[in-house]
Amino acid sequence: MVRHDDEQPTLTVGLLGCGTVGSGVVRLLADHAEDIAARLGARLVLGPVAVRNPSRDRDVEVAHLVSDPDLVISDPDVDIVVEVMGGIEPARSLIVGALERGKPVVTANKELVSTLGGELFDLADGKGVRIEYEAAVAGAIPIIKPLRESLAGDRVRKVLGILNGTTNYILTKMTEEGVSFAEALGDAQRLGYAERDPAADVEGFDAASKAAILASLAFDARVVAGDVYREGVTRITATDIGHARRMGYVIKLLAIAEEVDGAIGVRVHPALIPAEHPLASVRESFNAVFVEADGAGELMFYGRGAGCLPTASAVLGDVVSVARALLSGERASNGRAHRPATIRPFEDTTVQYYVLLDVADQPGVLAAVASTFGDHAVSIRSVWQEGTGDLAQLLLITHAARERAVQATLHDLRALPAVRDVASVMRVEGGEV
Ligand code: HSE
Repeated sequence: MVRHDDEQPTLTVGLLGCGTVGSGVVRLLADHAEDIAARLGARLVLGPVAVRNPSRDRDVEVAHLVSDPDLVISDPDVDIVVEVMGGIEPARSLIVGALERGKPVVTANKELVSTLGGELFDLADGKGVRIEYEAAVAGAIPIIKPLRESLAGDRVRKVLGILNGTTNYILTKMTEEGVSFAEALGDAQRLGYAERDPAADVEGFDAASKAAILASLAFDARVVAGDVYREGVTRITATDIGHARRMGYVIKLLAIAEEVDGAIGVRVHPALIPAEHPLASVRESFNAVFVEADGAGELMFYGRGAGCLPTASAVLGDVVSVARALLSGERASNGRAHRPATIRPFEDTTVQYYVLLDVADQPGVLAAVASTFGDHAVSIRSVWQEGTGDLAQLLLITHAARERAVQATLHDLRALPAVRDVASVMRVEGGEV
């Protein structure tokens, strides 16, 4: 309940979770209290904070710790509920409980928003309260509001994102320092970027959740994490990185969302991008989102995608925004009405390919390989070959081709006697359309 104790109204924030992000929220709320009060015309104060173990030592001071999260959502003094616990349950039930009580919610929960977001938005709209989730995608980077609000008068065609800091850190270290995948992952975990389960990062699940959220906003449709085609980075080798560099490319784990002829394609996979593409310069654990829109042209949003204070910054931005709505008494609507998504079958994706083959170094082999591509109407853009004795490595980059045609080509290449191994296959982005 908004209180008017002194000259300024006061709003109380209840916090669900006080781990890495939650403790950042507590710190920023205290450190920036005066600035926020000046901007908002109201004070934001921290109310109850729900944690699993209230007696544990923590590096932020919290006056009112509780172990029962229901005490946060049911507290009549709590005006805004912030959920930074992560995971589906109990986060979902608590958010539902808060919304049902008419309390706006700010969440950083990509897993929840990318799977059950539709249910939560409908409930929030029905209650006339806001639910915000800027921190769920790309940490500190403002990208939810730009897609939902700043670009509301435009038409987004494509979104390309580096949405996982751990894998970007790993690929940067492998590219620049030649370290192994395992060594780079260990470093990323020590630096605190990684999810508890490494598969969430390295197999692309984390980026897929974020990609679904961005696609929903970009194309006004309910895209869920399960709609996203996903491949991780665990099979990328130093050889791939070296070949990519020689051909003028950098390897990144990309999230790609596009709408073609009314169908939405969303995919997360490693891709070669031209070294001069703006995303190629995104190094270390940084994230970036590259947006192509009819009117705006190309936009890039860049920053820290994880970590205590960067993520807390996005959470607090949302808190201030919902506080403004509360103070103005507006009946909130959570943006656009989302239609059900028409998802493009992955086999219909049209994209360039990098194919690395180990072949016998004999007359006619290059011709046989080239004619296999030709049989499936896949056009070759560039070829590089190097002999290694009886064998040769043959690297081809195709023009844009249908996924299903490339898969059929690969099937036939594997059957050629001269082809000893299809050593690597990766998509190439940021070049041909
Ligand atoms: N593990 C994630 C990353 C953290 O590496 O980007 C934020 O979702």
